[in-house]
Order: sequence, then structure tokens, then C-alpha cells
Amino acid sequence: MQNLIKFNGVTVFQDERPVVGNLSIEVKQGEFIYLLGKTGSGKSSFLKTIYGDLALTNGTANVCGFNLLNLKPSEIPFLRRKLGIVFQDFQLLSDRSIYENLKFVMKATGWKDEPKIKTRITEVLQKVNLEGKETKKPHELSGGEQQRVSIARALVNEPDLILADEPTGNLDPETSEEILKLFKQISESGRAVLFATHDMLVYNKFKSRTLLFENGRIEDKA
Ligand SMILES: Nc1ncnc2c1ncn2[C@@H]1O[C@H](COP(=O)(O)OP(=O)(O)O)[C@@H](O)[C@H]1O
Ligand SMILES: [Mg+2]
Repeated sequence: MQNLIKFNGVTVFQDERPVVGNLSIEVKQGEFIYLLGKTGSGKSSFLKTIYGDLALTNGTANVCGFNLLNLKPSEIPFLRRKLGIVFQDFQLLSDRSIYENLKFVMKATGWKDEPKIKTRITEVLQKVNLEGKETKKPHELSGGEQQRVSIARALVNEPDLILADEPTGNLDPETSEEILKLFKQISESGRAVLFATHDMLVYNKFKSRTLLFENGRIEDKA
């Protein structure tokens, strides 16, 4: 099977300070992988390296066919189109409907045909169990529903890899479990999901491969 991520001997730096050292990992299609570690252990820095927000300065790394060492700024938008990214704070446009939120991202990534846009929005909203919510504004939805909109937005371009940085950090335990299950389901449909959390309650919901961030290194636990 194809590797979506392959890192070899990578150290992630923030301000010239090593955050996670000598990292070698491979991620394949269909995997669900927890990134587990305390606040400040380097989970976000690792994810930022994968999506080209933090420049790689050493080792070798390939993400969805892109070589991260010497990645040109002009290549970053093309790398991002292979990825779906979900954050703790949803990052929805508050003055626009759910439909407009999704359409905004689609327009920015090259969608032009209005009927195709409409069909795709219906499809992704179905995938996250939000059909019929097109005309709602974000504030008319619950936190869990807003996070599901941001997951739908991450899915519109059928990415191979989903990066979720503490996606349940603002949600209550019950809603967190729903969101976790949704990501698990997404991984079972053939994408890979990296799910960062420091929340043991969430982590203990089911067992899966884990990258444990501790003491400046990552332990890879099957
Ligand atoms: N933009 C930044 N500039 C400098 N240092 C940073 C920056 N972001 C994070 N750090 C530092 O890098 C380390 C890892 O942080 P981070 O990757 O955010 O960890 P986590 O996501 O696990 O909480 C911390 O010591 C943090 O203070
Ligand atoms: Mg973080």
C-alpha cells in the first residue's frame, strides 16, 4: 500500500529549539492514528510540518507525493488540496450560511460549476449527518454541529489525509465521542486520519495506533 506520509530522521524545530527529535514514521491509507501528548509536547508543530506551515529543515519527508524539504511556497496550496485540516475552534465564517461556508472553500480551490458545487455540498453534509442545514448560520448550530461542518469542509476535495488538531477540545464528552466516531468512520472509507488530543477520556474510547509525544520524542505504539 502507498505511504501518504513518510518521515525519515526529521527533527521539528520551533525558533531553532528542537521540539520533537529524530522522527521516522510511515502512514498508510485507511489508518486512524492518535497523536497523544500533553500541551506543549509538539503535536501541533508536527501537524504544521505536514501541512507546510512550519518549514522542514532536516531529514527527509514526503507527504502525499510532495517532498517537504525545499518545498516552494508556490507548492503549498497544491499540498493543502491533498489534505483536509480540522481545528479545535471550527474556523467557520460567522456571517455566512453553512452553504456559503462550504462554497467559499470550493471556489478558492477551483470549483466553478454551480450545480456541481450544490451536489457536492449535499453529499458532504450527508456524510456528517447535517443534511438540510445549508441555510443555517454557524451560531444557529451546536458546537458539535459546527465541528461537523468543518469536517464536511475538510472532505469537499476528497483528500487522502485528514489532519485533526484537538478537534474535540471545545466539546463536551458526549459530543466529543460522536466526533471521534465520525473521524474513525472517515478513516474506514480509505483516508488516513491523524487525530491530535491530550484528552485521555477521548483517547480511551477505542484503541488505535498512537504516536505518543513525550520528552522531545515520539513513541509509535501499534
Ligand atoms: N509559533 C511558535 N513559536 C515559537 N515556539 C512555539 C510556537 N508554537 C509552539 N511553540 C513551542 O513549541 C513547543 C510545542 O508546541 P506545540 O507544537 O503547540 O505543542 P502541542 O500542540 O502538543 O500543545 C512548545 O514548547 C511551544 O511553546
Ligand atoms: Mg496543539
